[in-house]
Amino acid sequence: MHLVQSDLGHDEKMANEYTPLITTVTVGPVRRRYPHQIIRRFCTVALGSSLIALFITFLITVVFAPQHDTHHRWPGHHKNHLAHEELKTILLETPSSSKATEWSRYYTSGPHLAGKNLSQAEWTRDRWNEWGINSNVVAYETYINYPVDHRLALLEKAKSGAADAGAWKVAFEASLEEDVLEEDPTSQLEDSVPTFHGYSASGNVTGSFVYVNYGTYWDFEDLVKANVSLEGKIAVARYGGIFRGLKVKRAQELGMIGVVIFTDPGDDGETTEANGYDTYPNGPARNPSSVQRGSVQFLSVAPGDPTTPGYPSKPGVPRAPVDKAIPSIPSLPISYLEALPILKALNGIGPRAQDFGQYWTRNTGLAYKGVEYNIGPSPDDVVLNLYNEQDYAITPIWNVIGIINGTIPDEVIVVGNHRDAWIAGGAGDPNSGSAVLNEAIRSFGKALERGWKPLRTIVFASWDGEEYGLVGSTEWVEEYLPWLTAANVAYINVDVGVRGPIFSASAAPLLHKLIHDVTASVQSPNQTIKGQTVRDLWDGRISTMGSGSDFTAFQDFAGIPSLDIGFNEETGNSPIYHYHSNYDSFHWMSEFGDPGFIYHKTMAQVLGLITAKLADVPLLSLNATNYADALKEYIKKVEAKLTASQANPSTEEDIFAFRARAIGTEVKGNPNHFKNSLGRLYQSVDAFKSSAVELDAKSERLAKEVNEHIPWWKWISKLKLLHEIRSTNTKYKKIERAFLYQHGLDSRPWFKHVVFAPGVWTGYAGAVFPGLDESIDKEDYVNATKWVYIIDDCIKTATKTIE
Ligand SMILES: *[C@@H]1O[C@H](CO)[C@@H](O)[C@H](O)[C@H]1NC(C)=O
Ligand SMILES: *[C@@H]1O[C@H](CO)[C@@H](O)[C@H](O)[C@H]1NC(C)=O
Ligand SMILES: *[C@@H]1O[C@H](CO)[C@@H](O)[C@H](O)[C@H]1NC(C)=O
Ligand SMILES: *[C@@H]1O[C@H](CO)[C@@H](O)[C@H](O)[C@H]1NC(C)=O
Ligand SMILES: *[C@@H]1O[C@H](CO)[C@@H](O)[C@H](O)[C@H]1NC(C)=O
Ligand SMILES: *[C@@H]1O[C@H](CO)[C@@H](O)[C@H](O)[C@H]1NC(C)=O
Ligand SMILES: *[C@@H]1O[C@H](CO)[C@@H](O)[C@H](O)[C@H]1NC(C)=O
Repeated sequence: MHLVQSDLGHDEKMANEYTPLITTVTVGPVRRRYPHQIIRRFCTVALGSSLIALFITFLITVVFAPQHDTHHRWPGHHKNHLAHEELKTILLETPSSSKATEWSRYYTSGPHLAGKNLSQAEWTRDRWNEWGINSNVVAYETYINYPVDHRLALLEKAKSGAADAGAWKVAFEASLEEDVLEEDPTSQLEDSVPTFHGYSASGNVTGSFVYVNYGTYWDFEDLVKANVSLEGKIAVARYGGIFRGLKVKRAQELGMIGVVIFTDPGDDGETTEANGYDTYPNGPARNPSSVQRGSVQFLSVAPGDPTTPGYPSKPGVPRAPVDKAIPSIPSLPISYLEALPILKALNGIGPRAQDFGQYWTRNTGLAYKGVEYNIGPSPDDVVLNLYNEQDYAITPIWNVIGIINGTIPDEVIVVGNHRDAWIAGGAGDPNSGSAVLNEAIRSFGKALERGWKPLRTIVFASWDGEEYGLVGSTEWVEEYLPWLTAANVAYINVDVGVRGPIFSASAAPLLHKLIHDVTASVQSPNQTIKGQTVRDLWDGRISTMGSGSDFTAFQDFAGIPSLDIGFNEETGNSPIYHYHSNYDSFHWMSEFGDPGFIYHKTMAQVLGLITAKLADVPLLSLNATNYADALKEYIKKVEAKLTASQANPSTEEDIFAFRARAIGTEVKGNPNHFKNSLGRLYQSVDAFKSSAVELDAKSERLAKEVNEHIPWWKWISKLKLLHEIRSTNTKYKKIERAFLYQHGLDSRPWFKHVVFAPGVWTGYAGAVFPGLDESIDKEDYVNATKWVYIIDDCIKTATKTIE
C-alpha cells in the first residue's frame, strides 16, 4: 500500500514526524529551505520512491492480489479485509442500549470536573484498550479555577424612623444550591459540584443592580441610549441567546462590577410550570431550583488555556497574561427561584422592559410569580452583595487518545467527545456522547477482531476541560498542528449525543452530503411508518459551525472540515433539558431524556457509520460542489446584510445575531465601492465551482472504477487508478486548508478561518465570512474591502488546489 503515497513523499514524512504520542513537536520558527534544495530533494525522493513504489505495486497487484475476490476494492490490503458492507453490518449490529446505559451510569456516578477525575480518564483508556484500540492518557497543564466560596444576598437599609434606621438588613440570602430530590440520587451526592462559573473572577462587590435582559450587545446598547446608569452597578441578566461569557464581557466593558445570570423559564417554550406542567422530577417542566453552571471565558476571542494562546500547555511553557481572555469582574449563576426576590425588588423602579420593545418582552416567563421586569437600577438602599471566591491553579487535565492505524499514514480521521462535566451527572452533556462514543469504539473493536484494518488512521479522543473553554481539544490541536495540517481529513464531534428525539447537525459544507447519506442508512428508533430512517425524520437542515464545542480548534484554527451531531429536544414539546444542572442526571435521562437509551444506540450507529465511511471508502466522502454552493449563499447573505432592514429577523438565530452586533461609531470608506467589490468574489466562486464539479465528477468516476474488477495483466491501469485516487483524495484533503488566513481575524488572531468563526458577540452561533460580517457591523468599509481581497485569495488558492 505504501506505494501510492510516494507521489506525496513530503506529506508522508510530515505525517510520520508528527504522529501523536510518539514524538514531541518542538514549537519554534519553521526551518527555512531554499527552493532549489527543495526541488532537488523532491526530485531525488520522488524518483527513488516512485521506482520502489512501482516495483512493490507490481508485486502486490500481480503476484499477491487475490483474483476472485469480488469485494476486494483496494489492492494491497490484508487478505482478511472486510468489505465495507460487512463493516457497516458490524457497526449497525454491535451498539446496544443496555451497554450505553451501563456507560452512562458509570460516567454520571461521581463528579468529573476538568482536571478532577483521573480515574475516569484511566477507566476510559482501559475500556478502549480492552476493545482492542491502543489508547493512552495524555496530560496538559492548564490554568483553571475551582470554586471555594460564594454568596449572593439582597440587602436593604432599614427605613428612617425605624428603630434600627440606616442599618443594612438581609432581605434575601440566596442558597446558591439546587434542591436535593428524593427521586434523583445524583442530586443527593455529598461531593456535588457547587454552582459557579468557569474562569470567573474572584471578588466581593456590593452595589445596586440593573436588569439587562439577555445581556447582548444591543441590550446593553438600549440601556446606554436610555441613560440607564450602569457604571458601578451589578448586572442581572437572563441566560440565552449568546454565550454567557460575552454577557460578562460587555458588562465589564461598560464599567459594571458584577454579573448575576439566571434561567428564565420563559425560554423553555410551552413546557413550563406557568402552563400547568409538573416540574422535574414529577413532570417535564424545569425544576425551579435548577442552576446553569458554565464558563464565562471570552470564547469568541480565543478558546483553550487562556495563558497559552496558540501553543500547547506543556509543563514549563511561558504563560501569557489572561486579562483579555477571561473576566475581571465576578459573576454567579442562579436559579429562577432565587432570581424572584431580586427581580421583584425592581418592580416599579426605572423603565419597564416593554418600554424597550419586543426583544425585551419575548420569553419573559416569571410574570405569573409577580415579576414586572423593571430595569432599575435599584435605589441606593437596595443592593446586592455578590461574593465569589475561586481558586486558580495550573493543574493537569487528561485527554484519552485511542488510535487505529490505517494503511495510508497521512490520511487521518479524528473522532471526539469531551468527558468532563460541570456536575456529577452530565448524562446529557457530555456523557450521552461518551456512552455513544464508547459504543462506536466497541463496534470498531469487533471489526478489528475480524481482521479489519481501515484504509485511514482513526484517532478517538475523550477530551477533558471542554467545559472551561474547549481546553483539552484546543491544546491537543495546537500541539499536533503540523501533523494535523498534513494528515487530518475530517474531525467528527459528538458532545451532547442525546437529550431528546430530534436529530441535529452542524457541519462544514464539505461534509453535508456524508451526513445526509449516513442518516439515510440508520433506522429511526421512533417509526410511525415501518422502515423510517433517521434521515426520514430529520428536516435535513445543517447549521454552520459556530463555537461551543471541541470542533472549534479543528475547524477555525487548523482548517479541518468538521461536523457535530446529536439528538436534541423538540422545542416546545420535549421534556426540559436541565443544561449544566445537577438534574442533567442519569435519572432524568432514563425517565425523560431517552427512556430505554434507544437514541443512544442510534447515535452510536450514526457515529460509527460516519467514521467508517470517511475512513474506509477509497474515495474520500467529501463534496466540493456543496462547498462552492455554500460560499455563494454566504456572499449573498453578506450582500443582503448591507441592505437588510434589521427590524425583521426571521429566525431565532438571526434575532440574536442582530442583537449581538457591535455597531461602529463612524462610517469608514464607501459602502457602494465595497458592494461592487463583491462581484469579484462571485466570479472567484464561479471558477471554484467549475473545478469543484469536475473534481466531484472525477471522484464519482473513480469510485465506480475502483469497484470494477481489473484483471491482473492490466496492472498498469490499476496502478494509474490508484495514483488518480490518491491525488484526488489529496485535493479534497487540502480544500479547507486554503481558507485559513495566517494573520487571523481582526482583533482575534487565533481564529484563522475566513469563512467560519463564532460571532464576536454571539459565541455559540456561527458567523460566515466573519471579516466581512464584523466590518459591515462596524460600518468599516475600508476593512470590509480588505477582507474581500483576503477571501478572494483564499478562494483562488482553493481553486488551484483542486484544479
Ligand atoms: C470519578 O468518577 C467516578 C465514576 O463516575 C466516580 O465514581 C468517582 O467518585 C469520581 N472520583 C472523584 C475523585 O470525584
Ligand atoms: C465582603 O465585603 C463586605 C463589605 O463590603 C464585608 O462585610 C464582607 O465580610 C465581605 N465578605 C467576605 C466573604 O469577605
Ligand atoms: C440621555 O442623556 C442625554 C444627555 O444628558 C440627553 O441628551 C438625552 O435626551 C437623554 N436620553 C434619554 C432617553 O433620556
Ligand atoms: C501505529 O503506527 C505508529 C506509527 O507508525 C506506530 O508507532 C504504532 O506502534 C502503531 N500502533 C499500533 C497499535 O500498531
Ligand atoms: C416519536 O416521533 C413523534 C413524531 O415525530 C414525536 O412527536 C415523538 O415525540 C417521538 N417520540 C419519541 C419517544 O421520540
Ligand atoms: C456532490 O454534490 C453534488 C450536488 O449536491 C452532487 O450532484 C454530486 O453527485 C456529489 N458528488 C459527490 C462525489 O459526492
Ligand atoms: C481593520 O484592519 C486593521 C488591520 O488591517 C486592524 O488592525 C483593525 O483592528 C481593523 N479594524 C477593526 C474595526 O476591526
